[in-house]
Amino acid sequence: MMIYKTVLKGRYYTAIDQNQVDYQPDSLVCIDDGGTIARVVLADEDDYTTIIHTAEQTGTLVSLADDQVILPGFIDLHVHAPQWPNAGLALDRPLYEWLEEYTFPLEAKFKDAKYAHLVYDNLVETLLANGTTTALYFGSVDNTGNLELVKSCLSHHQRGFVGKVVMDNPEQTPDYYRDESADVALNETENFIHEVEKLNTDQSIPVTPVITPRFLPSCTDEVLSGLGKLANKYNLPIQSHCSESDWENGYALETHGKRDAAVLDEFGLLTDKSVMAHGTLLNDEDIKRFKDRGVGVAHCPISNVYFGNAVFPAKKLLSEEVKVGLGTDISGGYDPSVYQNIRQAIMSSRMLDEGVDSEISPDLRGKHQAAITAKNAFYMATIGGAKSLNLTTGQIKQGYAADLQIVHEKYPTFGHQGPEDTFEKIMYQTTVSEIDHVMTQGVFAK
Ligand code: GUN
Ligand code: FE
Repeated sequence: MMIYKTVLKGRYYTAIDQNQVDYQPDSLVCIDDGGTIARVVLADEDDYTTIIHTAEQTGTLVSLADDQVILPGFIDLHVHAPQWPNAGLALDRPLYEWLEEYTFPLEAKFKDAKYAHLVYDNLVETLLANGTTTALYFGSVDNTGNLELVKSCLSHHQRGFVGKVVMDNPEQTPDYYRDESADVALNETENFIHEVEKLNTDQSIPVTPVITPRFLPSCTDEVLSGLGKLANKYNLPIQSHCSESDWENGYALETHGKRDAAVLDEFGLLTDKSVMAHGTLLNDEDIKRFKDRGVGVAHCPISNVYFGNAVFPAKKLLSEEVKVGLGTDISGGYDPSVYQNIRQAIMSSRMLDEGVDSEISPDLRGKHQAAITAKNAFYMATIGGAKSLNLTTGQIKQGYAADLQIVHEKYPTFGHQGPEDTFEKIMYQTTVSEIDHVMTQGVFAK
C-alpha cells in the first residue's frame, strides 16, 4: 500500500475547460512527498477505504468538514508588488497622472531593503491568505527590493514569478526613477536572473525570473530589443502591459506608427511565455497575433474599470482560444483577492453585453454574446492562468502540483442546495475569512 504525505478527504470543484466544472462529492486527493497530486480517488474505487485506513494510521489524513470544499489555488497573473501600500488610493486619476504622482514615487522607495522586506512579506502573506498560490509580479527598477520579493515568495512558499521592471526612456520616466541607460537596464536584468538562481538553491518552489519591460512608453527601442534577446537566451517568461488604454495605444501609433502589440512582437517579446496585462483595446489583428504566438492575457477587471477605457472582451478571447487568466493589478486594482476579480469579470462582461446607456434602445445598447459565467471566470482564475505560465497546476488532477485551497461556505443554506448552487455561492461570497487553508506544492502555507 502506497503511503502518501497527505490525503485530503472531502468534496472538490475543479475546472475541466472554459465551460465545465467537475464536482466530486467524496474524494481522496492523495499528495506525494514531492507535493504532486499522485492520485484522485473517488468513493466507488476499490482501494478507497484502504487508503483512508492507512492515512488514518499514519496520521496523514485531513478530513474536510461538511461545509468545506477543496478548490485549486488561484493564479494572479498581474501584481505590482511595490504598489501594495497604495492599494485603494488615487483611482480617480487618469493613468498617466496616477503613475507620475502616486506610483513612481512609491516604487522608488524599494531601493531600501528593509522597507521592501516589510511590504513584500505582508503582500505575499496576504495573497496566500486570499487563496493565491501562484503570482506573477512586477517588482521595481532596483534589484535590492526585487530580491526581497523573491525571498518573501520563497519563505512563504508561494509559487512566484518576479520581474525587475525596466524603464529607461527619459521622456516618459522621472529622473529619480529610471534605469540609467539601456545597457544598465539589461545588465541589471541579467544580474537579477543570476541572483534568483542562487536564492533558488534547495528550494522546493523556485522563483522564476521574468523579463519585464514596463510598457512601451517607458522603454527605448534599444532596451526592448535587448530584452527580447535576453528572454530568448535564458528561455524566460516575459510580462508587460499591452493596449491597456487609449493613451498607451495613441503613444505607440504616434512614436512607432504601429500598435504596441506589433512593436513588442518585432522585438521578440511576444512568445508562448509572454503574459500581457489588460488588453482592453486589443483589435482583431492583435488578438490574432496573440493567438499565433501563444501569448497569454492577464485580464484585470477591477483595474480596467479605472484605467482600461473599455471593457475587456473576455468572452471573445476565450472563444478564440487565446490564453486568458485573471490579475488583481495591485494597485490599479484595489483588492488583493482573485475572488473579487472573478466577480468583477462577470459584472463587467454583463455591462458589455447589455450596454450601459439608458438613452440607447435595448437592441442597440450592448455588444451581445459578451457575458461570461462564474464557470468561465473560475476557469480563467485557475487553468487560464496556469496555461499562460505553462504550469502544471490549477487543477485537481493526477500529476498536477498540489496548489490548493480549502474554503467553507459563508452562509447557511436554509434548505436544499445542489452542487451547482454551492459552486456559484462560493465564487460570489468567499472572502479571506472563508479560506481556511492554502497549500502550495503539498505544504500548508495557511
Ligand atoms: N502601465 C504602466 N505602468 C503601469 C502600472 O503600474 N499599472 C497599470 N495599471 N498600468 C501601467
Ligand atoms: Fe499593471
